[in-house]
Amino acid sequence: MPTHSELFDAYALHGRDGTRVRMNFVSSADGAVTLGGQSGALGGDTDRELMQVLRAMADVVLVGAGTVRAEGYGGLKVDEGDVEWRRARGLDDQPALAVLSGRLHLDPADSVFTEAVRAPVIVTTDAAAAADGRRFESVATVLACGEDEVDLAAMLDAFARRGWTQVLCEGGPHLFGALLQADLVDEVCITLAPRFVGGEAGRIVQGAAEADRRFHLAGVVTDDEGFVFFRYVAS
Ligand SMILES: NC(=O)c1ccc[n+]([C@@H]2O[C@H](COP(=O)([O-])OP(=O)(O)OC[C@H]3O[C@@H](n4cnc5c(N)ncnc54)[C@H](OP(=O)(O)O)[C@@H]3O)[C@@H](O)[C@H]2O)c1
Repeated sequence: MPTHSELFDAYALHGRDGTRVRMNFVSSADGAVTLGGQSGALGGDTDRELMQVLRAMADVVLVGAGTVRAEGYGGLKVDEGDVEWRRARGLDDQPALAVLSGRLHLDPADSVFTEAVRAPVIVTTDAAAAADGRRFESVATVLACGEDEVDLAAMLDAFARRGWTQVLCEGGPHLFGALLQADLVDEVCITLAPRFVGGEAGRIVQGAAEADRRFHLAGVVTDDEGFVFFRYVAS
């Protein structure tokens, strides 16, 4: 099994200047994004370790509202050892969490808010923020980016103004599709699970128009459970 520190080396960032959007997904070997409606069932020990390592390196973890609704996101935090790593680099103890929701179909009583170690940011449209944003005023900061649609580039600019340049996006597929479509993805980390699940689960990208988007392979890690971890960087 790769150790925590070997994963830090394999996924090291070369500098923290400038916005960088890094995606992290797990997929079955036959391309399913979920098993039983969730991604966790596809993962393994190294995958969970890698998720922690990538979170430890991030200024902000970004997720779509669909992923929050399906998976819950309460209590996201890095552990004490990683807090030390972050402090040594002048980072906040914990990464921020941002939830993207165009319609604000979120519940202020959801664990993503009630168990948060840092009050999350909800990214939405000007229209939704004006109509419904006040429901979240005691549990989150509402960040309006775009009149009737979320402007993802404006969202990243707003993150950068908060000092959040290293963005780890944990999905889901529609958010990945939107970021790809907007040409805003710098890196894709994919865990390929040695499982063939069939069923109706979709792919890791949804909603992006077909195009020949080329990335190069920056690293491959394997573990003794048969998982393969690919690190792709935009060409
Ligand atoms: N295998 C993996 O690594 C992995 C990772 C993440 C998720 N998943 C799975 O993926 C499934 C969820 O898929 P999904 O595609 O629905 O997830 P998603 O992208 O997290 O959620 C889609 C929702 O997020 C908001 N959203 C996404 N992009 C947006 C945009 N450009 N502008 C405005 N709002 C945007 C919208 O929320 P509103 O409806 O509130 O407007 C939209 O309905 C779940 O089953 C989850 O378990 C798997």
